[in-house]
Amino acid sequence: MSSDDSPRARAQELRRLLTRFNHEYYVLNRPSMPDSAYDRLFRELETIEQAHPELTTPDSPTRRVGSPVAAGFASVRHAVPMLSLNNAFDGAEVEAFDQRLRGLLSEVIGGTDTLLEYCVELKYDGIAVNLRYEDGIFVQGATRGDGSSGEDITENLRTIRAIPLRLIDTDTPVLEVRGEVLIFKADFARMNAELDAAGEKPFVNPRNAAAGALRQLDPAITARRPLRFFAYGIGQAEELSLPDRQSLVLDRLRELGFPVASHSVVSGSSGLLARYRQMQAERATLPFEIDGVVYKIDRLDLQRAAGYVARAPRFAIAHKFPAEEALTELLDIEIQVGRTGALTPVARLKPVFVGGTTVSNATLHNEDEIRRKDLRIGDTVVVRRAGDVIPEVVRALTDRRAASDASQAPFAMPGHCPVCGAAVVREEGEAVSRCQGGLTCRAQREQALLHFAQRRALDIEGLGDKLVRQLVDGDLVHTPADLYRLDAESLAGLDRMGEKSAAKLVAAIERSKKTTLARFLYGLGIRHVGEEVARVLADGYGTLTALLDEDWDALLARKQAAQKENAKRRARGETLVPVPLEGIGPEIIASIAAFLSEPTNREVVDALVASGVAWPESAPSAEHADPEGIASAISGKTFVLTGTLPSLSRDEAADWIRRHGGSVSSSVSKKTDYVVAGEAAGSKLEKAQALGLAVLDEAALLAMADRSSDL
Ligand code: IVH
Repeated sequence: MSSDDSPRARAQELRRLLTRFNHEYYVLNRPSMPDSAYDRLFRELETIEQAHPELTTPDSPTRRVGSPVAAGFASVRHAVPMLSLNNAFDGAEVEAFDQRLRGLLSEVIGGTDTLLEYCVELKYDGIAVNLRYEDGIFVQGATRGDGSSGEDITENLRTIRAIPLRLIDTDTPVLEVRGEVLIFKADFARMNAELDAAGEKPFVNPRNAAAGALRQLDPAITARRPLRFFAYGIGQAEELSLPDRQSLVLDRLRELGFPVASHSVVSGSSGLLARYRQMQAERATLPFEIDGVVYKIDRLDLQRAAGYVARAPRFAIAHKFPAEEALTELLDIEIQVGRTGALTPVARLKPVFVGGTTVSNATLHNEDEIRRKDLRIGDTVVVRRAGDVIPEVVRALTDRRAASDASQAPFAMPGHCPVCGAAVVREEGEAVSRCQGGLTCRAQREQALLHFAQRRALDIEGLGDKLVRQLVDGDLVHTPADLYRLDAESLAGLDRMGEKSAAKLVAAIERSKKTTLARFLYGLGIRHVGEEVARVLADGYGTLTALLDEDWDALLARKQAAQKENAKRRARGETLVPVPLEGIGPEIIASIAAFLSEPTNREVVDALVASGVAWPESAPSAEHADPEGIASAISGKTFVLTGTLPSLSRDEAADWIRRHGGSVSSSVSKKTDYVVAGEAAGSKLEKAQALGLAVLDEAALLAMADRSSDL
C-alpha cells in the first residue's frame, strides 16, 4: 500500500477537510461543500477510526461527542477572573464614561481633550465561557460561574462545531479564549417548532435554550442542539505575541479559527453614539440576539492603566438597548398562592413576541400595583421585556376600553384563598395579601415541598411539580418529613409511575438524607431565610441542637451591645469586636424564632432528623469568623497592597481586610484575587496587570464590604 492511500493518510486528509469545512461554515460564513458531503466524509472518518483506534487524534472532529459526566460538573478556578461589565442606559451615561476615562488617562494620552479610540463590539445575549488551549489543542472549557470559578463543561463545549478543537497556526503553550455560546434565531424557531410538534414544552428564549444545552450531563444531548460560539476576548495567554489593541486581538482570534462578529474602532463619545444608533437599526437583521453594544478602549496599555473597579473593568462598558415593548390583550388575572401563602396576581396575556421571547404571562406583583396601573381584564396593554428581565405589564390603553363592557370592573383581591378557601389577610402596612391556611392549604404545601426538594436545598432529583401535586392531592405527603416515609408501594398508584421510576424516586429521596446543615435550614422554608442566611446560621451554630437551643432575645441583646461597642471603637479607630451573626437582622431573627416556636414546625424538624436526614457537624464560629460581615465579598479572598492609599495606612488597610475575612499577602501571584493600588504603586501593580488580575483603588475596596460574596 503506498503511503498516500494508507488509512493514516486518508484519516489525516479527512480531518483536514472536515476542519476546513467547519471553519468555512462557522467562521468565514461561506461553506464550499454541502452538508451532505460533510456527513459522508464524517462517516468515512468514523469508520477508519473505528477500525484503527490508534489513528484517532484528540482534535479529530469525531471526538466532539464524549461520554456523559457521571456526577455533575467539576469546579474550575479561572486563571484570570471572568469579569462583568457595567451598563450604560443612555447617551449621557456613555458621555460620562468617556469623560471619566479621559480624566483618568489624561497624563498618558496628553490631556483631557484627546479623543480616546474605542473598539465597539456586539453584546451577545448568550452564555459566557472560557476555552483553554494548551499547545494549540482545546483542553478545557468552563462557564463563568461566579467569575472566580465556574463549571467544567469541556465535553459539552467540544460538541460545538464553531469552536475549533485545534488552533490554526500557533504553538502558544497556553491561550484562553473568551466568548459567548448562543443559538441563532432561526435555529431556535426550528427547535421550538419541533418540540411543539412532539407535544413538548418549548424553550422561553434562545439564551435559556443555550444555557440548558450546556448544562446537560450527556454531551450527546448537547450535540443535538444548534449551539454557536463568538469570541470577544482572551483570558490567560502565555508566550504569544498578541497585538496591542483589542480590535487587533479580535482579528487575531479570527485568524486562529474563532468566529468573531463585526467590530469597529471609533473615536470619542460621538463616535460611540453614532455606532450605537447604527447597531440598533441593524439589530433586527442579525441572525442572533444582542442586548446592546460593548465599548472597550482599543489600546490595551490604556486598558491596563485604567484598571478595574471591583468586578468590572473601568475601560469598558455595555450600552444596553432599551427594553422592547409590544401591545397585547389582558385575557385574565389569575391568583397564584406561594409557599408563604402570598397571593400573587398573574396576568394571562394573549401571546405576543417581545424582547426575543413569546410572552403569555406576567406577574402583576400585588393589588396596589394593579390599582395604580388601573388594569382591567379585557384591556389592551403595553408589555415590556428587556433581556433577562421578567416581562412586565407597563400600562393599559384606557381609551380603548369599551365603556359599556361590564366585565371590565376594577380588580379586587379575593377575600378567600382560591385554592383552600381559607381567609385572606392583608396586614397593615403590607402590600401582600396572604392565605391563612398554612400547611392545610394545598398550594402552600405543594410549594413548601418543592422548595424543600429543589436542587439548592435537599436536592431530591426527579421530584418536580407534577409529582408533588399528585403526592399532595393523594394525601400521601403533608410535610417534608412525610417524603421519607414513601416507598415503592405507596408510589405505585400514581400516574405514570412505573416500578422503575418509583424505585428511582425512592433512591433519590434516600440519597437526599446526606446533606448539609445549611441546605437543611434553607429547605425548611423559614421566611427570610434564604441560602446565604442559612449558610451564616450553619457556620455560626455548627449544629442543629445549638441553633434550636438559642435564646433569640438574648442573641438580639448581644448583637446590639456589640454594635454599640463597635460604633465607639470605629470613632476611635480601634479594632472592632465580633458581632454575632453579622448580617442577620432583627426581622430575620424574629422570623426564625416564630418558626421554631410553632410546635408543628418543631415536629417536622424532629421527624426529619429521626428519619435519618443528617450532615457533618462542625464547631460553631458565630462569634469569631469574619466579624464585620460574614456575607461580604472579601471573605476568603487574597489581597496584595501596593502604593500609598488616600486615607488608610498600609497596616490599617490590611487590618480592615482581615477583619472582613480576607487575607493579605506581600507578593503578587496567580493566587492573588485583588491588588489594591494607591499612589506610586510600582512593580506589584505591573505584575498584577501582566497577570490580568483585578486592580482596585481604596474606594472600590471599601465598597466591597457592602456586597455579598455570591455577586
Ligand atoms: S467583555 C472585561 N465583550 O457580558 C470585560 N463581554 O457583563 C469582560 N458579553 O458575561 C466582558 N458580549 O459574557 C465582553 N463583546 C463582549 C460581550 C460580553 C457579551 C457578556 C459577557 C459577560 C457579560 C458582562
